[in-house]
Amino acid sequence: MQLSAQQIREFEQSGYLFFPNAFNAAEAAVLKQAALDVYQQQREEVWREKSGVARTAFAAHTYNDAFRRLGAHPRLIDPVMQLLDGPVYMHQYKVNAKAAFDGDVWQWHQDYGTWARDDLMPEPRAMNIAVFLDDVTAANGPLIFLPGSHKHGVVEAGHDLETTSYPLWTLDRETVTRLYQEGGCVAPTGEAGSMLMFSSLLVHASPPNISPMDRTIVYLSLCHVDNHIRQFKRPEWVAHRDFTPIAPLEDDTLNELVA
Ligand code: SIN
Ligand code: MN
Repeated sequence: MQLSAQQIREFEQSGYLFFPNAFNAAEAAVLKQAALDVYQQQREEVWREKSGVARTAFAAHTYNDAFRRLGAHPRLIDPVMQLLDGPVYMHQYKVNAKAAFDGDVWQWHQDYGTWARDDLMPEPRAMNIAVFLDDVTAANGPLIFLPGSHKHGVVEAGHDLETTSYPLWTLDRETVTRLYQEGGCVAPTGEAGSMLMFSSLLVHASPPNISPMDRTIVYLSLCHVDNHIRQFKRPEWVAHRDFTPIAPLEDDTLNELVA
């Protein structure tokens, strides 16, 4: 999949692109089942909320076949290679649960803020691409973006080690308010299989999920191979150290797993 000139302009302007139903229902169902399988496992890569439900499964592409295939899926890798202008490696891979009733908040942050400070990634020449594994609605803790906030570079942040089970460099309320006043706030919603691509500088957050509906989203964080991280402070399965360029698989790679 190649992005059009208009999509590239839109990405540069707002910092994200939304692709409703990029994957069909059967492909999304294969991935949702894979998420449930992974969350059952007791392994260090699966982080839990204070209540014990899964919060995120790191590096699932290294121990689950469906997530391995998604990690090299051309519908994700090709547009990111186009925008980053060259080969990419997997910096981080997360399957975020945001479980019904118990899924906790992700505070306001920029992903590159954490990658720069914790991993010494040289430039924001990296981005996220996400696939919804459940329908994402206004009710079940959608991702919220501040459009245009990526144009501000790395903004000041503090290291939040307390609010949630996952340490994050988060923004203060004054900064979020200022960025909101400039560009507003959006929460893209859509069916399972929809895809979101967003700049690693885009400010985002998500509220707790107190609805009875799960909200599972898988995130690939892809980085240009020349821009690989320089510091190995975090575990290998949080900030990967394999900088091998990803070779995209065939477009039907997930369909092969549909029963
Ligand atoms: C993230 O910002 O990395 C995750 C947010 C979410 O899954 O809601
Ligand atoms: Mn993030």
